[in-house]
Amino acid sequence: MPSVIVVGGQWGDEGKGSVIAYLALHDRPDVIARGGVGTNAGHSVFINGKKYAVRQLPTGFMQRNARLLVGAGVLVDPGVFFSELEHLREFNVRERAGIDYRCAIIEEKHKELDRTNGYLHGKIGTTGSGCGPANADRAMRTARQAKDIRELEPYLTDVAQEVNDALDEGKLVLVEGTQGFGLSLYYGSYPYVTSKDTSASAMASDVGIGPTRVDDVVVVFKSFPTRVGAGPFPTEMSLEEAERLGVVEYGTVTGRRRRVGWFDYEFARYSARVNGATMLAITMLDKYDREAFGVTDYDKLPERAKEFIEGIEERVGVPVGLIKTGPELEHIIDLRENI
Ligand code: GTP
Ligand code: IMP
Ligand code: MG
Repeated sequence: MPSVIVVGGQWGDEGKGSVIAYLALHDRPDVIARGGVGTNAGHSVFINGKKYAVRQLPTGFMQRNARLLVGAGVLVDPGVFFSELEHLREFNVRERAGIDYRCAIIEEKHKELDRTNGYLHGKIGTTGSGCGPANADRAMRTARQAKDIRELEPYLTDVAQEVNDALDEGKLVLVEGTQGFGLSLYYGSYPYVTSKDTSASAMASDVGIGPTRVDDVVVVFKSFPTRVGAGPFPTEMSLEEAERLGVVEYGTVTGRRRRVGWFDYEFARYSARVNGATMLAITMLDKYDREAFGVTDYDKLPERAKEFIEGIEERVGVPVGLIKTGPELEHIIDLRENI
């Protein structure tokens, strides 16, 4: 059984949450581990018409048999962690959640700095979640770790060990990435980026999987990429154009309006290469073509939507295995058997 990493290929908010939720319910992983920066990420998912948003726990929480882990590379905000245990209590997450004892902790002072610092808040347009300042303290070796917080004690574990044990036993491990390739500290549009690398290799490292143990990398792209905060966005369209197309969106964590652009094939190709994509997932196809809404069979897609998907495969050079055609879990086309 393989390990699968899901990452965002653009500037975050590609709809990774809904792709992960589908994989979690359909493929039934035994372990779902979250990598990435920390609580700056908001993944939202619709289940039976109800919206759930998670910033700390894995988005695959609805798979009730899975262990839900937060890797050592991820920052933990204890307040957010406990409120999610409560928010998701109908899914019995309390019994299944584990945090690596080496996770660094986001404290009040980090959030305060992230919200008031003119450079971070004003120029970069950070989420204000304290992630940048907490990672800075981590690099300074002054940050506290999860093992230093008494309330987290019942949830502490060695995620790297759990994940590698699961792979040794032939179990399926799903690794969730956060943010997107364009926000990578290394490969994104520095300085308008987040405080860590966001590529698939970083996610593997975050949860303690070596490069030789990664089987699949799913890179998620949305039909109209979005970006929140400052920074270059070469294919950005005007607000009027986005309104005319009905593709205006607001952020899960900050509520800020997202900037919207046209699909950038060249950027997507580069992103897929550096991430080592084995497969692409395309979301929001219904926003590209209204007639595609809710379609679950590829052959039933309108021609224009099919041409868009085929154009992506050709120009990015990686097969498309999953296509989201609406917000609900079942609004999906699964083509993986053909890959
Ligand atoms: P990540 O940060 O990548 O996890 O994305 P996200 O989950 O934060 O994205 P966002 O907050 O924008 O949430 C995506 C929303 O769009 C969720 O409510 C999804 O249910 C919904 N969604 C996902 N895929 C599609 C789709 O194909 N079409 C439409 N119309 N909505 C979708
Ligand atoms: P930070 O990660 O809060 O430091 O923010 C740095 C940049 O990354 C800002 O432009 C944020 O808007 C952006 N960012 C961070 N996390 C996300 C995310 O989950 N979705 C979209 N943008 C994000
Ligand atoms: Mg998001």
